[in-house]
Amino acid sequence: MTASHNRVAVLHGVNFNILDRRDPEMYGGLSLRKLETKIERWAREFGLETIFFQTNAEGEFVEYLHRAPELADAALVNAGAWTHYSRAIADALAVANLPTVEVHLSDVESREEWRRVSVFDGIVLAKISGKGPDGYREALERLAGELGTTGR
Ligand code: DQA
Repeated sequence: MTASHNRVAVLHGVNFNILDRRDPEMYGGLSLRKLETKIERWAREFGLETIFFQTNAEGEFVEYLHRAPELADAALVNAGAWTHYSRAIADALAVANLPTVEVHLSDVESREEWRRVSVFDGIVLAKISGKGPDGYREALERLAGELGTTGR
């Protein structure tokens, strides 16, 4: 039986289109395409369908969140640097009102002080950081639990 409530919007924010050009020590050297391929595969294992979105424009990210409740049942968000200061994105995330997990490839807690702050705190179900791509797998597992999908 196919779950009907199983769509996850995976949103990548600013600078993720050039993920493979960013510090490999921090971000693993993976291209966004490769990361999304992994996410899609893991999602299927958990009985989830994924739709992907990336932009470098804050307003576009906000507008996507406005549409998100029609497109998906849950969200997985790595907003990059916007995480630490974009109240506009935090407000849009709250309005979207979807079960959401925040993911960071790097360990934001052990980097610069300003990266420890997330304006999504209190809006998201969980924040996973420092686990590289595996953090996305963990986030998907959490969302599958929330949505009650069974996987295969
Ligand atoms: C990041 C962490 C942020 O602090 C940074 O600005 C990014 C990537 C991560 O995935 O580790 O762009 O979200």
